[in-house]
Amino acid sequence: MKQYFDKAFSKIAVLGSGTMGGQIAAHFANLGFEVIMFDVSEEVLAKSLAVLKKLKPTPLASQSVIDLIRTSTYESMDILAQCDFIIESVVENLDIKKQITEIKKVKKQKLLVGAAVGAGPKEFDRSKAIIKEGVDLIVVDTAHGHTKKVGEIIKFIKKLKNNNLRSKTIFNIIK
Ligand SMILES: NC(=O)c1ccc[n+]([C@@H]2O[C@H](COP(=O)([O-])OP(=O)(O)OC[C@H]3O[C@@H](n4cnc5c(N)ncnc54)[C@H](O)[C@@H]3O)[C@@H](O)[C@H]2O)c1
Repeated sequence: MKQYFDKAFSKIAVLGSGTMGGQIAAHFANLGFEVIMFDVSEEVLAKSLAVLKKLKPTPLASQSVIDLIRTSTYESMDILAQCDFIIESVVENLDIKKQITEIKKVKKQKLLVGAAVGAGPKEFDRSKAIIKEGVDLIVVDTAHGHTKKVGEIIKFIKKLKNNNLRSKTIFNIIK
């Protein structure tokens, strides 16, 4: 498998060293790739590595695989720039205000922007708020697409669309 991917990339960055990031990094390291896990601080990274070493069942093919996983904060963006494949596994659930701030930043650059909502009770307000900001793509992010609440949030978003809050907004609902 590594030989196949070797042609495409060699150095992999994983942004976020939590449950997903740590184990994604482990699997790439299992294949022999050099992996660099990024997170917000050295403390978080040290804790994540410690968790990774102790996980049961272990995602590490052997204990020495851990040596192939390097860690970094964003102090030096050069390290990130050297990576030719980047996977993001950063924590979600920004509060609505913070999410709006991020949307505004992208809109200011006159770029298309997507944003995710969940299916919980707070997500109705989130949907309204992000639509008001003119997001171009809405992702209903769920691992439980068959549930009633997912259907309800999708209906709600469609209704907002039909009410034409922002005529130029393109809605894509990904289940
Ligand atoms: N855990 C699961 O079973 C699971 C399943 C499917 C999808 N996901 C998705 O994967 C993503 C990560 O989930 P997780 O369970 O690993 O979360 P987690 O909370 O275990 O880890 C997230 C990590 O992201 C770090 N982080 C925050 N801002 C960062 C930044 N700017 N750069 C780098 N790192 C940053 C946090 O410090 C933390 O270590 C989420 O979007 C989640 O919805 C998780």
